[in-house]
Amino acid sequence: MRSVKSSVKGWKAAAARLAVVIAIVVQTLGLRAVWAQEPPRPRLDEEMAKQEKIYRSRDSDVPGGYITDRGLSDYLELLPTGFCDALGTLGSSDRWLDIGAGAAQAILDYYAPENEAAPGKTCAGAGGKARAVAMSIEDRRTDAWRQRVASLGDGRIRYLSGKRLRQYSPEELGKFQIITDVFGGFSYTEDLSEFMAKVLSLLETGGVFHTLVQSVQLENGKDRPTTWYLTKLVDAAGRDVKVCSWLKQTTCVKVACESKSDWNAPTELINIRKVCSDVSVPRMKLLNFEAGNPPGRRFQLEPQRGGVEFKAPVRDERKKSLESVEAKD
Ligand SMILES: C[S@@+](CC[C@H](N)C(=O)[O-])C[C@H]1O[C@@H](n2cnc3c(N)ncnc32)[C@H](O)[C@@H]1O
Repeated sequence: MRSVKSSVKGWKAAAARLAVVIAIVVQTLGLRAVWAQEPPRPRLDEEMAKQEKIYRSRDSDVPGGYITDRGLSDYLELLPTGFCDALGTLGSSDRWLDIGAGAAQAILDYYAPENEAAPGKTCAGAGGKARAVAMSIEDRRTDAWRQRVASLGDGRIRYLSGKRLRQYSPEELGKFQIITDVFGGFSYTEDLSEFMAKVLSLLETGGVFHTLVQSVQLENGKDRPTTWYLTKLVDAAGRDVKVCSWLKQTTCVKVACESKSDWNAPTELINIRKVCSDVSVPRMKLLNFEAGNPPGRRFQLEPQRGGVEFKAPVRDERKKSLESVEAKD
């Protein structure tokens, strides 16, 4: 009797061990299946081509909603509280980069002469105005820009176009005290981790990145359950991750998020201060991209293997850009 009992016991233990092994194998295969969901190349190429068409669009071809002429007052409404004060702390040898500047109207307003500026709206401080660099994939410079460049001289304002942020070398751009992005690369890039790593590499320690992102899961959790998210992040197992939670995993930064749940689309206003130089952004990969203004994007966080950190490589001309020529002014 005792030997029958012990053989049943042994069989049960073996079955339990087998179940554990099966569970591990199934889980691993399951994860691999989630992990293997990369966007099919031809479809991605098609969406990228559509996106290029939006960038190239001119006059009546510009799709409704692709706004390229927001002024400084719009930036003050759309960026996190404190942006105007931050600009005011800069001196004449400091530098401001506006990524995805479009027609660079915000920089033009900042540099408006006293008699033309809306009262109190240039955000300039007592130390003078910072040098400003506008960056756009497509060249949207206006006559007003050209005239202001001529009147200011001395390269105080520059316009860079023909490339994406990631395609510039550190030497070409230098370092900045303030970087802004209003519906620019942060909302449009297909490689958000590389974009963030590049932005942070261009910031001086103590410098701040001011941006926003629309139609995302809000940090305060108050977005409507019916929201269709334009930018969606998931972890390795496919569970939702908020943009701010992902950003807060970056080393050497202080991230502050202002959730706007009462705006038409749930929007996160984001302020990222670089506090030391050893920045590492958790890597994500693209799962899906749908062209638009802004595009729909789905990213997946890669498992953090043994604390391996992602540092953005400086890559040249990795992907096609509109023109190969850089326009400078
Ligand atoms: C919708 S417009 C916004 C223009 C401006 N910020 C405004 O609010 O009027 C998008 C801008 O982002 C730029 N852009 C998108 N992705 C970019 C990237 N990876 N690097 C540089 N510029 C980018 C586009 O070329 C364009 O100038």
